[in-house]
Amino acid sequence: MITEETLQKRIGELAAQMNIDLKGKNVVCLGILNGAFLFAADIFRKLEIPARISFVKLASYQGTKSSGTIKELIGWNEEIKGTTVVVIEDIVDTGHTLERIMAELTMREAAEIKIATAFFKPDAYKSKIPLDYVGFEIPNDFVVGYGLDYDGYGRNIPSIYTLIH
Ligand code: XMP
Ligand code: MG
Repeated sequence: MITEETLQKRIGELAAQMNIDLKGKNVVCLGILNGAFLFAADIFRKLEIPARISFVKLASYQGTKSSGTIKELIGWNEEIKGTTVVVIEDIVDTGHTLERIMAELTMREAAEIKIATAFFKPDAYKSKIPLDYVGFEIPNDFVVGYGLDYDGYGRNIPSIYTLIH
């Protein structure tokens, strides 16, 4: 669907824009594991401004019967208060994950929150949170490669493929 070459070129463009927008700010990039680890690394190495990077992970656990599965963000070890946080996501689908992350960052008193995602499915999006840096808008199909997995596999494929059933 998207070749490695096209991907990398677009990442260069996003990073160039971030270098302009984020200059002079106290920047913390926040990668969302597992899927965003490659995108976060590729973006981060192209930043030419002082910036920190940290990663958090959404862990599912069983809540009470009424609340069902609860998703908690784990792995916080960076001071967020007063910083410009750049959330780095692999893919934004419905936006539920993003809503969860935004609530947490607001609670932790981030001064400013920017959202970067490698891929975005506009037809599936249910949120109103604006996305600041979008690599590619894609149709509402399941994709693998470049960090995105199918049952844990495929993250190391350098290009993006659509899964055909
Ligand atoms: P929401 O709906 O919360 O979803 O925006 C975001 C998370 O869902 C996963 N996701 C995918 N994973 N191929 C994948 O490998 C896909 O096409 C896909 N669509 C959504 C992903 O974990 C993402 O963070
Ligand atoms: Mg996945």
